[in-house]
Amino acid sequence: MPPPLNVVELIRRKRGGEALAAAELTDLIIAYTQGDVPDYQMAAWLMTVVWRGMTVDETTSLTLAMADSGERLSVRHQVSPVADKHSTGGVGDKLTLVVAPLVAACGLPVAKMSGRGLGHTGGTIDKLEAIPGLRTNLTRQQMLDILRAHGLVLAAQSATLAPADGKLYALRDVTATVESIPLIAASIMSKKLAVGPSHLLLDVKVGMGAFMKSVDDARELAHLMVKIGSSAGIRTVALLTAMEQPLGNAVGNALEVAEAIETLRGNGPADVAELALDETATLLAMANIVPGEDTGRQRAEQAIADGSAVAKLAEVIAAQGGDPAVVATPAMLPRATWREDVLSPKSGYLAAIDAEAIGRIAGRLGAGRQRKEDTIDPAVGLLLRAKVGDYVAAGNPLVAIHAPSSAAADGVRDNLLTAYRWSDQPPATHPLLLERIER
Ligand code: URA
Repeated sequence: MPPPLNVVELIRRKRGGEALAAAELTDLIIAYTQGDVPDYQMAAWLMTVVWRGMTVDETTSLTLAMADSGERLSVRHQVSPVADKHSTGGVGDKLTLVVAPLVAACGLPVAKMSGRGLGHTGGTIDKLEAIPGLRTNLTRQQMLDILRAHGLVLAAQSATLAPADGKLYALRDVTATVESIPLIAASIMSKKLAVGPSHLLLDVKVGMGAFMKSVDDARELAHLMVKIGSSAGIRTVALLTAMEQPLGNAVGNALEVAEAIETLRGNGPADVAELALDETATLLAMANIVPGEDTGRQRAEQAIADGSAVAKLAEVIAAQGGDPAVVATPAMLPRATWREDVLSPKSGYLAAIDAEAIGRIAGRLGAGRQRKEDTIDPAVGLLLRAKVGDYVAAGNPLVAIHAPSSAAADGVRDNLLTAYRWSDQPPATHPLLLERIER
C-alpha cells in the first residue's frame, strides 16, 4: 500500500519554495479530482503556487497530470495533420470563428474545442450558440465524424476532458488564484494535450483587455506553453498580439458572429482581417500545407475571395445542426430590441478605448455572465463606431448600445464614456502582432 497523501506536507513544502516531484503532483491531482482532497486544502496549495511559482518541470508535470485526469481524444491519431488554435482571451476576439473555417477551407483540418466566456472576456461557445440550432455539445464520436467529413469541428469542452481543470478553475475563480502564469499555462495546455492536435497556434493576448497586462508576462506564459506543447509532441507556436482596445467593432455574441461572417466575406474590420490572415498563414506554414507564410496568406486571401472560406463556415454550421442560412442572411441572428448610438461628447482623435471596461459593460448588458449559472443574452452588446486613431467630431456616433431595454442602456451609458480617451493629436500607432515564440 502506498503511504497516504500528506497534503499538509505538500502545502508546507511549496510554501517554503520547494519544487514538488512529478509523482507528488500526479497524486495530488488524482486525489483532488476524485474528491479525496477538500477544496480548502487545494485552495491553500494554489495560493502557495501563486506566491512561490513553479519550475518548468513542475508546471509540465502538473499539466500532464491534469490532461490525464480524463479522456484523451488524441485527434491526431484519427486525422493528421489536424490543427487547433487557442486564444488566452480578449474582448471582441472572434478570431476563432474566422480562422478555423479559413484554415479548414485551405486544406488543413481543424478540431477546435472551446470554452465559454471568462471574466470580462468572451468565449467561442457562447458566440456559436447565438446561431439558431447549432449544437456544440458533441460526443467524441460525433466530433470525430464531423471532423472527418468536413475537415472542421467546433465543439464545447466536454466534462470528461481534463476534468481536473474544470474543478480547479472553478476553485481558482473564487479564491483569487487565477493570476498565476504556471497555473494558467497548465490549465490551457492540459486541455490542448487532452485534445491532442498535431499543430497548435496560441494567440497570447497582451494589454488592457487581456489577462496578461505586460509583454514580459505574456512572453513568459507563451514560452512556457510552447515548451509544454512541444515536449508533448505538438508543434506549437505562440503569437503575442495586442489587446488594448477591443478587436474589431463588435463585442457581444450575435454581433461578433455577424462580424466574423463579414470578415470571411472579405468585408471585416481591418484589425480582425489582418490577424486572421496572420494566424491562418502561420498555421498553414507550420503544417507544411504551403511552403511559407507568404504563400499561406495568398492561399487564405484566395479562399476569402472565392467564397470557400465562408462556405466552410456554413458547412460546419449545418453539420452541427445549425441553420446555415445565417451565413447568407446574418440578420437572422438574434437582434437586441433596444439599439441606440452614444454620441461623442467632444471632438478629437480617439487615443484609447479600454477593452476591459468595454468587455465588462457588454457583460452587464447580458453578453457575459456575472455568476456562473447566469444565462447569456446572445443579442446584446456594443458596436464600436470608431476605433483608436479615428477622428470623431462632437455629436457623432461613438458606440452603439444593443440592449434588452432602454433601462438597461440607461444603466451603462455614462460608464461607457469612461472607457474612452480623446487627444488633440493622432495617437502613435502600434502593431497588432507583437512577437512570435516557438522552440
Ligand atoms: N484560460 C484558461 O483556460 N485557463 C486559465 O487559467 C486562464 C485562461
